[in-house]
Amino acid sequence: AGSAVYEAENATISQGAVASDHPGYTGTGFVDYTNVAGGYIQWTVAATSAGRRTLTLRYANGTGSDRPLTVSVNGTAVATSLSFPGTGGWDAWATRQVTADLAAGTNVVRATATGSSGGPNVDSLTV
Ligand code: GCU
Repeated sequence: AGSAVYEAENATISQGAVASDHPGYTGTGFVDYTNVAGGYIQWTVAATSAGRRTLTLRYANGTGSDRPLTVSVNGTAVATSLSFPGTGGWDAWATRQVTADLAAGTNVVRATATGSSGGPNVDSLTV
């Protein structure tokens, strides 16, 4: 099956804001997490069948410090405080991947900032 891109700016956002002030994003913008722990981006992802998938998060981190995210699927963490290291600038985008088992049908994928500086800027989730 082909992969689908789920834009962060179209997701459910808690303690973050849609922004477009750094180029290189896809869609109409990206999400800038508030600089606190606990903010999240939550996507609803469709799977035609159950099974293992690669989840790819596209992000930028213009600082020299990690901006870790815990990734959960349907409420269960599949990566805890996954590292999102600096990318060299806020307009320099990179990807991080995690594998996870999805259920057939609708799945909820959440990426929660675990550090006090919040998450990186996140452009999209590809599944
Ligand atoms: C800067 C940058 C934002 C980024 C923020 C941060 O303000 O312009 O895009 O989200 O730093 O540190 O999180």
